[in-house]
Amino acid sequence: MNSPIRVAVTGAAGQIGYSLLFRIASGAMFGPGQPVILQLIEAPIEKALKALEGVAMELDDCAFPLLHGIVQTSDPAVGFKDANWCLLVGAKPRGPGMERADLLKDNGRIFIGQGQIIDQVAAADARVAVVGNPANTNCMIAASQAKRLPPERFTAMVRLDQNRAQSQLAKKAGVPLTAVENIFIYGNHSPTMFPAFAHATINGRPAMAVINDDAWLQGAFCETVGKRGAAIIAARGASSAASAANALVDHVRSLVTPGAIHSVAVKSNGAYGFDANVWAGMPVRTTTPGSYAVITGQAMDEFAQTKIAATNRELTEERAMVAELLPKAS
Ligand code: NAD
Ligand code: LMR
Repeated sequence: MNSPIRVAVTGAAGQIGYSLLFRIASGAMFGPGQPVILQLIEAPIEKALKALEGVAMELDDCAFPLLHGIVQTSDPAVGFKDANWCLLVGAKPRGPGMERADLLKDNGRIFIGQGQIIDQVAAADARVAVVGNPANTNCMIAASQAKRLPPERFTAMVRLDQNRAQSQLAKKAGVPLTAVENIFIYGNHSPTMFPAFAHATINGRPAMAVINDDAWLQGAFCETVGKRGAAIIAARGASSAASAANALVDHVRSLVTPGAIHSVAVKSNGAYGFDANVWAGMPVRTTTPGSYAVITGQAMDEFAQTKIAATNRELTEERAMVAELLPKAS
């Protein structure tokens, strides 16, 4: 049995937190031989902290052998202390009449503070995964504050979009989910994202040949995956939670599994035409636990290039909206 790792989770009493924490504590994220200490961070709001107490009681009541401790706090300096993984789930939701730019700025301020504190107090090997929306830009903002931790340690989640795309392709082809491989997400976690179907395979054959319906792939497929989050909000009256938590388990599990190939939003180095300094979804191969190499050189046809240009444009616009929050040189 390894010694325990410290996993900090913000928004721990929220919807995603309620699905996520039990999966981490059961071993689904780091494996059956890895104990964890959960460091649960909530906003300094009485109702949220009271709810967090209840969640911690339920974690105790599960008697998970891998759960070696629980910290409950509203102080990020306590919550991120010595954390090996920082899972940034908490964020302010969009309120009535609120513009996207206002949301970006309000959440931007939260992620500035969290980026600074993580850089100061987290473990030397700390990794950060951002879920709170707008996830790519929040991740870019947090990373911009780090002087000690390099930018590749900061990733944002597009795994839910990958899982959604895989599921839609399997349904359309009438095959089990595991028959679908190599479907990766490029760009922003927003309706502009691009699920690059031309590289996907179904039972080892090109998905485009198996499905044989380019109009569906370019139209309904991309639209269904891109707007799935909004469809769930419309149906459930609340945003996706269990599937988002599950995707974060997948995101981290793949990042700690050498050889795994999966979609992650990472700092662009110009690959696929993404602007430098935006965090864009793209395929990566995990090299050593917590580290990865971007898979470059995937061919993109004219349709794919147009989609990538659109999602890149949105990411650069988001960056411009929060420019005043960023260090001058970044
Ligand atoms: P929620 O409102 O149920 O929970 C959010 C929690 O965060 C609340 O308990 C709140 O008190 C807390 N919080 C707010 N500010 C905080 C801060 N500064 N520090 C610590 N905690 C703070 O929301 P949810 O359904 O759990 O969703 C959380 C976020 O995840 C939202 O931004 C949502 O849009 C996003 N999301 C992302 C994806 C994705 O694929 N990237 C998918 C689904 C949801
Ligand atoms: C999702 O993709 O389900 C969420 O990001 C949607 C949202 O806006 O919370």
